[in-house]
Amino acid sequence: MRILVTGGAGYIGAVTVERLVLAGHQVVVLDTLVTGHEDAVAPGATLVTHSVRDREAVVRTLREHRIEAVLHCAARSLVGQSMSDPALYFTENVVGGVALLDAMREAAVDRIVFSCTAAVYGEPDRVPIRETFPTQPVNPYGASKLAFESAMGWYRAYGLRSVSLRYFNVAGASEHYGERHDPETHLVPNILRAAQGGPALTVFGDDYPTADGTAIRDYIHVLDLADAHIAALALTEDMPPGQQICNLGSGSGFSVKQVLDAATRVVGSPIPHAYGPRREGDPPALIASNDKAEEVLGWRPQRGTLEEMIGSAWALLQPRGTG
Ligand SMILES: NC(=O)c1ccc[n+]([C@@H]2O[C@H](COP(=O)([O-])OP(=O)(O)OC[C@H]3O[C@@H](n4cnc5c(N)ncnc54)[C@H](O)[C@@H]3O)[C@@H](O)[C@H]2O)c1
Repeated sequence: MRILVTGGAGYIGAVTVERLVLAGHQVVVLDTLVTGHEDAVAPGATLVTHSVRDREAVVRTLREHRIEAVLHCAARSLVGQSMSDPALYFTENVVGGVALLDAMREAAVDRIVFSCTAAVYGEPDRVPIRETFPTQPVNPYGASKLAFESAMGWYRAYGLRSVSLRYFNVAGASEHYGERHDPETHLVPNILRAAQGGPALTVFGDDYPTADGTAIRDYIHVLDLADAHIAALALTEDMPPGQQICNLGSGSGFSVKQVLDAATRVVGSPIPHAYGPRREGDPPALIASNDKAEEVLGWRPQRGTLEEMIGSAWALLQPRGTG
């Protein structure tokens, strides 16, 4: 298949592109490199450095490479930044996304998979979260992803076949590509930075109504996530015009303390950390149900242990080439 991956130089995009190329697909990456890295684009994929907002450039790219399906991973995705600069989020994630959809219409490409987020659910009062739960995002990041997802669904009027994947935290690495965000807001890379002599980790809250007092979150290995995206791309081939929405989760989740303990085992030494107060708006547990993903995509996590996720991220940080 000939696939355009927007945001394919970012963390999730890069690992997915690597696996698509390995599976024999022809991949074009469209990425401004605003938070991505040129050296994260797998050999064998073609990089074009346009924005999804540049409709004419996207139409040209789709036509030139005779693209059959789009995987849309490009986005701004920092919750805190979205609170202080919502315009950036609505412009990039919504206006940019709609420009992409219109470019697809113009180039007669009618299949898209969207890397959404479970932040669209906001702070649900029970878990596991199902796709039928109300969407009530509590920040512009989640709101912008939801707005785009909704537009994408309505484009069924033009024959669009779309799948939206909603998930929480992603962790781990492939053999070659992993997480390199700046600033880094995710737990696992920040734990590993602390292990390497960086700033000590702050655990936000140890008085939650959970077994060990720390918050429980869902984690997916980035390779499992890449597989889900590829399964979703396959689904768009057979489905009628319309939209499928699937949560991707572990179905159970891990507490921050469990993640710290696992990291201590992987690294082989204690992780410097301190406890701070809860952050506003951080619920005790966020876990997504996997039932629909299993039914519709035939997908469930294959690398669900913390050791696999943290171990792969840690392995990628080790110096190479000495063997
Ligand atoms: N990392 C997570 O834990 C997580 C969790 C849930 C959802 N997501 C979603 O997954 C997607 C990828 O996340 P990530 O962690 O890989 O982020 P990332 O920042 O590493 O990757 C995003 C990529 O998009 C590119 N980009 C941004 N704006 C662009 C534009 N206008 N045109 C073209 N390229 C543009 C960036 O340069 C970057 O390479 C995002 O849509 C995010 O909302 C991520």
